[in-house]
Amino acid sequence: MILGIETSCDETAAALVTDDGEIRSSVVASQAELHARFGGVVPEIASRRHLELVVPVLREALGEAGATLDDVDAVAVTAQPGLIGALLVGVSAAKALAWARRLPLIAVNHLHGHVASLYLKPLDLEPPFTCLLASGGHTMLLDVQDRAGYRVLGTTLDDAAGEAFDKGARLLGLGYPGGKAIDDLARHGDPNAYDFPVARVPGLDFSFSGLKTSLLYRVRDLPAGELEARRADLAASYQRAIVRALVRRIEAVGAERIAVVGGVAANSELRAALPEAALAPLALCTDNAAMIASAGRYTEPSAYPDYLSLDARATA
Ligand code: KG4
Ligand code: ZN
Repeated sequence: MILGIETSCDETAAALVTDDGEIRSSVVASQAELHARFGGVVPEIASRRHLELVVPVLREALGEAGATLDDVDAVAVTAQPGLIGALLVGVSAAKALAWARRLPLIAVNHLHGHVASLYLKPLDLEPPFTCLLASGGHTMLLDVQDRAGYRVLGTTLDDAAGEAFDKGARLLGLGYPGGKAIDDLARHGDPNAYDFPVARVPGLDFSFSGLKTSLLYRVRDLPAGELEARRADLAASYQRAIVRALVRRIEAVGAERIAVVGGVAANSELRAALPEAALAPLALCTDNAAMIASAGRYTEPSAYPDYLSLDARATA
């Protein structure tokens, strides 16, 4: 059994996953409320909260699985990319646990973790496939030939898709995190009410910053007091533009098998627009530790005690 630990952003998470990809437990403590009043994640606050939550969350994950540390064969932890202080809490906890139990430690790349959310049962997706990874920090098209990794085909030149959702929600006064809020409100709006531009970027890259600026102008140009009445239409049209940009890129690859992972994969319009695609299960779209343990199954472990010198890294 692999114990997964994830603390790269504002979710403190721990999970137990078997070697054949069965989730025995998956606990996610979201700090979203704590950061909401700042309109985004405050790194220093996130690190401190991870420190408070990491041990209770680990206990809960073991308890939920009816397991003890005796049942754990390896510890997998997100070592990159993410907020450096936040990552350090998970990496330090993982090192301490693995060292105390003389276990191997597996340093997992968070992006590989998102892809590995597809390798958990019951989905258990087999490569090859082309994967759209759309989260708060990244938007990438990946060529996945085997479970150990991937090749990057395209990436965002500016904002990530989730970031576009979050910044859009902020402009619309919907709070943080914004993706779910826009998704919910868009159901009550007209997606054709406003014409937002879909950026034309050569190759397979993405760009979302122009879209956000265009929403800013639309909101600014509204007559005083009109925002309330137009908010749902703006949300629906804005979401339509993001989804369209993502779907166009996927179609441009012309791949036979498509998969979608990451927080934005939870978006209902995106899911509906890709009926043929393999979609990460909703609970595994946003950050969690089951996907990290899953990636750990396909990553070279580091033997006791070599990993004591392991460092967290902010970049991918
Ligand atoms: O994968 P994730 O939990 O964290 C990162 O690795 O970044 O993704 C979080 C992102 C946020 O930007 C959030 O607004 C977005 O996923 N998100 C959504 C939805 N649920 C979460 N975006 C659109 N529609 C949703 N339903
Ligand atoms: Zn993530």
